[in-house]
Parts: sequence; C-alpha cells; structure tokens
Amino acid sequence: MILTPEEQSMLAGDHGRAAQTAMRILAALGKIYGARRMLPVRSVQIAGVSYDNLGEAGLEWLTEMADGGGKVRVPATLNPAGMDLENWQALGIPADFAEKQLRVIEAFTRMGVTPTCTCTPYLACNLPQAGETLAWAESSAVCYANSLLGARTNREGGPSALAAALTGRTPEYGMLLDQNRRPGITVIVTAPLVDTSDYGALGKNIGERLEAAGRKAIPWIAGVREATLEQWKSLCASIATYGGLAMFYIPGVTPEAAGQTPPRESFTVTADDLRTAKASLTDANAGEADFFSLGCPHLTLPEVARIAGLLRGKRVAKEFWITTSRPVKLEADRLGYTEAIEASGAKFAVDTCCVVAPIRGRFRAMATDSAKACYYASSKNKFKTRLLDFDAVVNEALEK
Ligand code: F3S
Repeated sequence: MILTPEEQSMLAGDHGRAAQTAMRILAALGKIYGARRMLPVRSVQIAGVSYDNLGEAGLEWLTEMADGGGKVRVPATLNPAGMDLENWQALGIPADFAEKQLRVIEAFTRMGVTPTCTCTPYLACNLPQAGETLAWAESSAVCYANSLLGARTNREGGPSALAAALTGRTPEYGMLLDQNRRPGITVIVTAPLVDTSDYGALGKNIGERLEAAGRKAIPWIAGVREATLEQWKSLCASIATYGGLAMFYIPGVTPEAAGQTPPRESFTVTADDLRTAKASLTDANAGEADFFSLGCPHLTLPEVARIAGLLRGKRVAKEFWITTSRPVKLEADRLGYTEAIEASGAKFAVDTCCVVAPIRGRFRAMATDSAKACYYASSKNKFKTRLLDFDAVVNEALEK
C-alpha cells in the first residue's frame, strides 16, 4: 500500500501516540482488503458509543486514545449513546451505567468529536454531498449516504471510524471503488407501500432473500417510485440489518442510477411477501406489549409533530419512548410538541434508542413500526415484538 509522506509520518508516531495507533489500524485494514492507497475523508460517523456495547474494555481504549493526544482532523459525529445524556433518570437508567456512559462521551469530546448522538447524522449537521468519501459506521446511515445521497462509504466498525477521524483517511476498498457499486440484481416491487413499517418489511424481505441466496448483490429496486425521507430511512435500516447491504439503487432517486444498467436477473416482492415479512415480526399479542417505541432510525421533526397530534389530550398506559436527536427535540420544545407528548405520559429518549440502551429483559414485549428495532429487541433485549403501522403504535399505547 502506498502511503503519502504525511501518512508515513503518522505511522511513525510523529503526530502522537493516538494518531499512530489510528494509522496502524487503517494500514492493517488496507492490507486485509488489498487497498492501494488511503483516501481523504470528508466526514466520519462513529458507532459503538453506548457503554452497553463498549463495556469496560471499550471505555479504556477510548480513554487511552484521548490521553494519547487523539484529535479529529475532519468533522466527526456520534451514533446514539446508551442513555439520554440530560434526562437519563426518567428512563430508569442506573446511576453506575450513567457515570460510565458520561466518561465515554467525555473521551470522544476530548478528541474533538461532536456528540450528536444520533443515527441520522444527515439530519443533524453532517450532511454529505454526492461523490464525497466518508467513513461512517452506523449501518442505516451508511445505506442512506450511499443510496440516497450518492456519497461513498464502507460500513466502518467503531475503531476504524475513530481511526479515520483521527487521521482524516480511510483505505480505498469496497464501496469506495466504482466496480463494487454496480447493481447486481433487479427487485421488482409490486407490493403497495404506505407506512414506514411497509418499507421496513420490504427491506427485510429483500435482505433475507439475498442472504438466503448467499448473494451480496446490490439491489436495483424497481417499482418504488416515491417515498418520504422517513420511509427511505426505514428501508435503509432494515435492508442493512437483514441483508448486511450498504447500498441499493432506486431509479430516479439514487444519484448514481443514471449511469447504471438494470441487471437481468430479478425477483419480485408481492403484497403477500410483505404481509409475511410483517407477520414474522409479530410474536406478541395485542395487549401483551408493555413497551412502545418510535424512532428507529431517529425521528424527524414531522414524525414528532405527528406523534404530538395523535397524543394531544390523551394518556398512554404503558412505557413509551420517543427517540430522536437533540436538535429535533429542541425544535419540538419550541413548537409545543414536547409539551403535548410529555403531558400524555410518553417520554422523550433523546441521544439514545430502544436498542442501545441497557434495557435487556426489562420488558416483556415491544411495539414499534421499525423492522430493525424488532430484530434487536428480540436478539439483544429478549423481548417479544409487535410490528405495527406508525399511528397504530401510538393508538395501541393509549389508555382505553
Ligand atoms: Fe438508530 Fe438505534 Fe435504530 S441507533 S437505527 S434507533 S437501532
């Protein structure tokens, strides 16, 4: 791998211990994947922020990197943490966990990372442009950046994303190369898509079918003409979760689609397929859910406004988390949505989400509109799940 003089000097330790460790990580990655050189990155998005995932070893490593003089060279933002950084007590987060989580955030901020704590960085001060090279880690945001924005990023791990932030570089391989960004299979969607939960179910069906066929082909999705930002982010989250995919093409939407040819090989997603995918994410009965959550990926302001409209003047009967980013919450405060939501008994869970918070085993069953949240609720938190339409999640949570 050819390194520039500056990259060599980072590797030699001239820029401090942390930059040296970071360059070692990237050089090793580059070697594994056969990269010929490093590319400068425009921005970084770091996952592995929750202490629930990092544990003591992760916290120690981050502290060492901060103590070793680590400083970001490009804009870098954070994925959700394990708790609302300001209001963790209201979510029932234990004090000892909070103390560790705050130390994680302190290590990141000491290195110059902006603690946005959101999985929708493209809505909160980290919006890439087409053609830019990124080093992002959150799988749903990676898929969004590649598919909707036309930026280029591999799905980084926590250490490689931090290493990219501290050096401003990433090895050139995978999704950064033209030949790995070509569509490999056409997916014809005849199923009607209305709700965010439909887009999540679509991602599940496509992802699982490609996985089952042992294919990592980038799907060319035909038949999905128009969708909202909220629906796209739901599709991105789910297709990345169930298929490990970092990109899809939507003709007329994906910036790079114009230069590509639809692949001949194809399969179809029907209304029946969608119904089956949705049904497979519901193993709890109506009335069994004791935990409700909307905001995977993090809610946009229009979604918060919708929830406020549905909850105004009503009461929820169960624990209900509204998960979003700090900037969206601040706008919600200003516009009166927070008041309406909190008066109902629902809680904002800002900076965090129902997957990365330490709530394993705390509830019996969770209701949500997110196919991705269902996956982790079951696999990580051991909850039963109910995949419902967005409005139905709110309605089922209400006092009857
Ligand atoms: Fe975001 Fe948490 Fe879902 S990080 S995509 S809300 S699992």
